[in-house]
Amino acid sequence: MINILVLNGPNLNLLGEREPKIYGTMTLAQLNSKLAAYAKKKKASMRARQSNSEGELIDLLHAHRKWADGIVFNPGAYSHYSYALRDAIASIGVPTIEVHLSDIKKREAFRRVSVIEPACAGQFYGKGIESYFSAIDALLKRGANRR
Ligand code: DQA
Repeated sequence: MINILVLNGPNLNLLGEREPKIYGTMTLAQLNSKLAAYAKKKKASMRARQSNSEGELIDLLHAHRKWADGIVFNPGAYSHYSYALRDAIASIGVPTIEVHLSDIKKREAFRRVSVIEPACAGQFYGKGIESYFSAIDALLKRGANRR
């Protein structure tokens, strides 16, 4: 049984009503319950957390470092400039997959760069909610990460 943390950053609590043409109409609660059902089917244990603040996201990464075998992380706009989140991912040593609903390479120039990518074990973007399922699959493939 592997443990997976699904972590969402700023503004993702408004999924469903936030710019639905870009991010879709599914709420975060609906997404999390689909992911939890998928994880359960794959015999993985999943926790879902969300925060709008950088410091709290760092605290959540720290707090789950012993529990999680892998992390699925959508850091929202922090992806593009938060060196503190990048360092947190590197510090905890838990394989972390960066995900985005939208195609960050085909939008505004500031979104094309992810400063957290070098600290991550993989990246999926532009596939809507499928980005999250692909990340879970990638973590399941890696297997347990008990240190
Ligand atoms: C996002 C892409 C980011 O650029 C944006 O700031 C978000 C959502 C995505 O899932 O497509 O908040 O991470």
